[in-house]
Amino acid sequence: MAFNGTLENAETEVLVILIPFLAQGHLNPLLHFARLIASHNIPVHYVGTITHIRQATLRYHNSISNSNIHFHRFEVPPFVSPPPNPNNNAQSNTFFPSHLLPSFEATYHLRDPFRQLLQSLSSQAKRVLVIHDSLMAYVAQDATNMPNVENYTFLSSSAFYTSLLFWEKMERPQCLHVPVPSLEGCFPSQFMDFVSAQREFHKFSDGSIYNTSRAIEGASIEFLEGVGGGKKVWALGPFNPLAVEKKDSDGIRHSCLEWLDKQEANSVIYVSFGTTTTLTEEQIQEIASGLEQSKQKFIWVLRDADKGDIFDCSAAKRHELPTGFEERVEGMGLVVRDWAPQLEILNHSSTGGFMSHCGWNSCLEALTMGVPIAAWPFHSDQPRNTILMTQVLKVGLVVKDWAQRNVVVSASVVENAVRRLMETKEGDEMRDRAMRFKNVIHSSMGEGGVTSTEIDFFIAHITK
Ligand SMILES: *[C@@H]1O[C@H](CO)[C@@H](O)[C@H](O)[C@H]1NC(C)=O
Ligand SMILES: *[C@@H]1O[C@H](CO)[C@@H](O)[C@H](O)[C@H]1NC(C)=O
Repeated sequence: MAFNGTLENAETEVLVILIPFLAQGHLNPLLHFARLIASHNIPVHYVGTITHIRQATLRYHNSISNSNIHFHRFEVPPFVSPPPNPNNNAQSNTFFPSHLLPSFEATYHLRDPFRQLLQSLSSQAKRVLVIHDSLMAYVAQDATNMPNVENYTFLSSSAFYTSLLFWEKMERPQCLHVPVPSLEGCFPSQFMDFVSAQREFHKFSDGSIYNTSRAIEGASIEFLEGVGGGKKVWALGPFNPLAVEKKDSDGIRHSCLEWLDKQEANSVIYVSFGTTTTLTEEQIQEIASGLEQSKQKFIWVLRDADKGDIFDCSAAKRHELPTGFEERVEGMGLVVRDWAPQLEILNHSSTGGFMSHCGWNSCLEALTMGVPIAAWPFHSDQPRNTILMTQVLKVGLVVKDWAQRNVVVSASVVENAVRRLMETKEGDEMRDRAMRFKNVIHSSMGEGGVTSTEIDFFIAHITK
């Protein structure tokens, strides 16, 4: 929907501007959040580049029919969008998707159009709330000197991850009973520069919003409240809907869901490493052999990391699997090379395990759907989320330890991890615990639950 500079509703008291960071794992959550806010009859303005708004809306599971959500598609100078190159990882000593850095840096160009939008909107509403991704503090900086504007930071990481960063800065005040993996290999220095460019603007924020639940991260959230100097910490997650609405237009279900319908309960492991991971050809061969040898049913999403501009399809590469692999595993497993409906796969009763990179969205989706994890972290917050999932919440096992991050994982290691999760008593116990978290999360989101109460407080706070 184009925004024409005037508000439909002249009586608007409060409106919200959301500034997502321009990568899939950030675009999608804030779109869920937009719907959540808009459902309380508050107009929401969602800001991004033309290509990233197209990406966010195209990949969104549900239709966005709420006329309270306005998209602002801003043009930025062209940025290069190279394909990911997993062979660079050895050189740069990180699996971080460095090919995305030009698109990250393009975000700086959103500052001016955002400021103009803010000026126009703030003159038309009593109160404006700017909620920006922590990686978009630079873009949001002009929200700090307008009298009717409040600024909130949205963190797309777990509260556990952020609290560990504070804990380290404070020189480790209390004893933690879990190992804390090093940040080495998590980020390249150019990304750290980008993060530093945001940092000075964080002090302006009136509070932080996490996509997590006190039902699963209560201790970390309390820790963050303790170190936050009295600023509010909101735990409003998970933002994803618990129920998927039927796609009204054509009602087409992904073929992998039809396949899952025919499998036994908890018999399938879902394997996906998210939108920011690219595997080497060698590693792909080992995973294929490991899955085949495990003799477990699987759905394997085999895609490269997103490019900075996902609509630039040049140089898309098709990975080779071992000769005859897809024929041999026919009926046993599916290889999905396009976009997979992850939430619905995890929610399906045939899915009993998830081999995952442990990005926070995936962790939270697994917990919400009651699926235990075989953790294989690659970069960013993933090694620490792995500790949260496997040692704190105990809903998963480790495929690849962070200390071994530069080693190719062999087929037999993959096979053993899959078997342990899918066919042992230990795996069953993890599944039981994951199911308990599912129940806890679902009741937290029901009437009177911790999350729904906190959402009500949040809405009351912003509309007060
Ligand atoms: C918020 O939570 C859900 C997972 O339950 C996910 O679908 C959504 O994209 C998440 N966003 C985050 C972690 O920022
Ligand atoms: C999960 O499955 C239940 C029924 O099994 C369904 O009602 C619900 O809509 C599903 N939710 C998602 C997110 O797929």
